[in-house]
Order: sequence, then structure tokens, then C-alpha cells
Amino acid sequence: MNDEPGDSPALPELIAAAAGVLRDSQCLVVLTGAGISKESGIPTFRDALDGLWARYDPQMLATALAFMQDPKLVWDWYQYRRTLLAGAQPNPGHTAIAALQDLLPQVVVVTQNIDGLHHLAGSRDVITLHGDIRRSKCFYNCQGDPTYIDVEQLEWDPEAGPPSCPHCGRWVRPDVVWFGEMLPQAALARARELSEAADVMLVVGTSGVVQPAAGLPAVAKQHGAAVIEVNPEHSLITSFADYHLHGPSGVILPQVVDILRAEHPDA
Ligand code: APR
Repeated sequence: MNDEPGDSPALPELIAAAAGVLRDSQCLVVLTGAGISKESGIPTFRDALDGLWARYDPQMLATALAFMQDPKLVWDWYQYRRTLLAGAQPNPGHTAIAALQDLLPQVVVVTQNIDGLHHLAGSRDVITLHGDIRRSKCFYNCQGDPTYIDVEQLEWDPEAGPPSCPHCGRWVRPDVVWFGEMLPQAALARARELSEAADVMLVVGTSGVVQPAAGLPAVAKQHGAAVIEVNPEHSLITSFADYHLHGPSGVILPQVVDILRAEHPDA
């Protein structure tokens, strides 16, 4: 049931119907995008960047070439995004997803986000397809892929840009997937396998623009899963979603969990 005008059911009825589908799920995959972190105060990737960074196109900064051409600019942009994240806390949407794992037999979160908020909310099985902005690594993975570097242990002049790898002396970079780079293959393979096996996929807060993550809901659908989307806007997923819950995830997901909890008071 979608939320097309006409005879579409009201949102509360859609939430109740979606909760009923989730109740019966044996293998739930939750695919999330930047939208689920919006209510934690983190701008979505395609939100207009404010202030100093407004003149830069994120897709022009989040590339290995941009980093090689101007390591300080790209490093400083990620440092800026890390400061935005520093005080961010999981919101009720993250918490609701974490609660599902105690109400349903199998719940795996596949996220495109790099903010670490699903882990902080208590989700135990999280596949991070695009890396984690809180981590850094050697640009050349000189000790093997990935060569994580704890920059807290390094001393360097931040005005000079990124620190040097303590192993090889070359650049340290954020441990995030840049445009044009491959996703971590093991993570992507597991996300695909789970999408094929899922009987329900809950898609939260993604525009469905960036592949290969954006292709996972179609994979789930093709393999017989029911697709439930939570998004205040329409996305590239909406047209084939079985349920489009039209609203912010921090408001909608707790209502879904409340319905499930009412049936599992001991959970
Ligand atoms: N609750 C749920 N969804 C929301 C909310 C909210 N409160 N606020 C906004 N959204 C939706 C928007 O309507 C939009 O569809 O979240 C989506 C965010 O879309 P994008 O900004 O494109 O973010 P995302 O889909 O995660 O981008 C995918 O692209 O740029 C790369 O690596 C980057 O991981 C990112 C990937």
C-alpha cells in the first residue's frame, strides 16, 4: 500500500499494517541512509552545506583525486564534519531500530551512514557500507587493507593538513568510501546475501540515488521480500515499496515498535 492520493489509507493504518508485516518477519534487513540521522542534527549528504563549506560540492570533495590534489582541504572538510558529529546522539529512530532486534528473530542493519549512530543506539549487527568517519587509515593501506591509524596517538601540525602514517610516512585519510571507490567487498557481499534472503526490508531515510546500496531494496523485492519505506519524501524506492510511511523516522519508527511491544510485553 503506498501513500498515493485517492483511496490510500491514513498514516496510522499504514503504520499498523507495516507493524503487522514486521511482526511476522523471520529475516529483517533494515537499510538506512542519511535521513535517519537528520533528527540527530546531522545534515543529510545532499542538504546544502552551510557557511564555509557552502561553496563546495560534496561530491567534488569526497574523492581520492580531490584528496591527492589538496589533502588539507579534504582532510579539513572531514574534520569539520567530525565536529558536527561530535555531539550527535542517536535519535528515537535509531533507538527504535535497535529495539527491533529484541522483538524479532533476525535483524541486520545495513547502513550507508558513516556516523556510527546505529552502534551507539545499541544495534548489534550493523554492516557499514560506506565506512566510518570516526576512523582513519593509511591512504595506501601500507600494512594491509585496511591499515587503521589512531590519529589520537599522533602529533602533527593540523594547519599542515592530514597527519602522516606512522608506518610509511605517507598520508592518513578518513576511513570512508569516496565516490569512484569500491565498497568494502565483504560487507557488500553479506548485505547482498541478506537482501536476497530477507522476507522484509525496512528502508529508512535514503534517496535511493547511490549504487550499489540503493539497489538492495530491489534485490530484496525480486526475491520476494515485502519492502517498507520510511521517508517524508518520495525516493527512488517509493515506486516499488509495498508500504511508504510518509514522515520522519524518529516519529514513525517508535510508533511501529510500540505496536510490536504491545504484543510482546515481556520483550
Ligand atoms: N526521516 C527519514 N528520512 C528523512 C528524514 C527523516 N527525518 N529527513 C530526510 N529524509 C530523507 C530525505 O527525504 C532523503 O530521501 O533522507 C533521504 C536522504 O537522502 P540523501 O541525502 O541522498 O542521503 P543518502 O540516501 O543516505 O545518500 C546515499 O550517497 O552521497 C552518498 O555516501 C553518501 O551515504 C551517502 C549516499
